[in-house]
Parts: sequence; structure tokens; C-alpha cells
Amino acid sequence: MTVIAIDGPAAAGKGTLARALSRHYGLAYLDTGALYRAVALAVLDADADPDDGETLGDIALRLDLAYLDDPRLRAEATGAAASKISRHAAVRAALLDIQRDFAARPPAGKSGAVLDGRDIGTVICPGADVKLYVTASAKARAQRRAKDEADKGRTANLAAMIAEVEARDAQDMARTHAPLKPAEDAHLLDTTDLSIEAAFERAVAVIDGVLGRN
Ligand code: C5P
Repeated sequence: MTVIAIDGPAAAGKGTLARALSRHYGLAYLDTGALYRAVALAVLDADADPDDGETLGDIALRLDLAYLDDPRLRAEATGAAASKISRHAAVRAALLDIQRDFAARPPAGKSGAVLDGRDIGTVICPGADVKLYVTASAKARAQRRAKDEADKGRTANLAAMIAEVEARDAQDMARTHAPLKPAEDAHLLDTTDLSIEAAFERAVAVIDGVLGRN
């Protein structure tokens, strides 16, 4: 079983990279941020108190996976809400088994998995074969997000996006449980000045090197 752990801050391009790597190596892919986003939507719909960790943990345990297909899932407001609820230990504990099971027994008979998130290399899969910590400057991440918005025909305020990205970084890095940080044995990949293709090539070079494929 080959497990590739990809962590890093919001909008660093982890998802795009993880998906491309899963295709390249024929591995299953799990976007763990989507799980926290789904819980955030369930919490919102239940009108639960975002400070009540115990109730939020129960909601996470009973998570209706249909939320993963909810049209609100990718909204920035949902990401920000996910960042708020994910600080609770009970919420993180409720999602632990789903993630570890996926890594240990990937679907469709795949020989391994790529998981991306904030704590994959540190908490979920500390024994992962390869760990990447993907980052980029807050400005570069906000610019990419602004371009995505413009591509969808929406206007974007770059200064507001930089502020959003920085606020999420601060919240995810400062929390007590599973804060965002590189695992000690993670390979750092700064994509500030890299295209998606260049970032992919660097990642493949690192992974092939670790797995002894070159
Ligand atoms: O990656 P994404 O922006 O979808 O994640 C939303 C939020 O979910 C993050 O800001 C983070 O607070 C939380 N998260 C987490 N642990 C993960 C994945 C996401 O705490 N493994």
C-alpha cells in the first residue's frame, strides 16, 4: 500500500496537485477538507452552536455524506466555517476513522491513496510513504483564487482575498488540536513561482525519489 500525504495552507493548490498525482500513480484520492466542509454545512443546517464541541462532534459522527455533493461545499464561506468547527477535538476524532480507513483500504482495489488536508502527515497518516507540504505566499494564493473567480465571470477583491487567506492560515496554524504544520519528514514544495505543471513535475521527482523509482 502506497500512501502519499499532502498538507498545506488554504488555496496552495494541494487539491489540483493531489488529484493529478493520484491519476499519475493510479492511486485513490481523498480530499479531507471536503469532509470538514460537509460537517460545517451540517452544523449550519442544524443551527448548532459553533462553540459547542460535543454537539458538533455528534453531528460529525452522524454526517450525511450527501453533503459532499452540496452546491455550497466549495464556497469560501463554507471553508471559513469548516476552519471554525475543525478546531474541536470531538469533530476531528469523529472524522479520524473515515480517513484512516480510506488510506488503509482504498476504494476500487487501488494499491494506495493520496490524501490532502492539514494534518495528514502529522496525525492521520504519520507513517505515510511520502509527505509533501505544499505552500505559496498569501499573495500568490489570493491571486490564484481571484483568477478562478474572474474565470467564473465574478469580480474579486484581491486585498479582501489576501485577508481571507491570512485569516484562515492563522486559525488553522494556531489551534490546539492538529494545527497546520509540516511533519518533520515532509518535503517542502513552495509553489509561489511555479505553474501547476511545474509543481506537478517537482512533486513527481520528489515522490519517485522517495519510492525509489528513479
Ligand atoms: O482544504 P479546505 O479549504 O477544503 O479545508 C477547509 C478547512 O477544513 C481548513 O481551513 C481546515 O480548518 C479544515 N481541515 C482540517 N484538517 C484537514 C482538512 C481540512 O482541519 N485535514
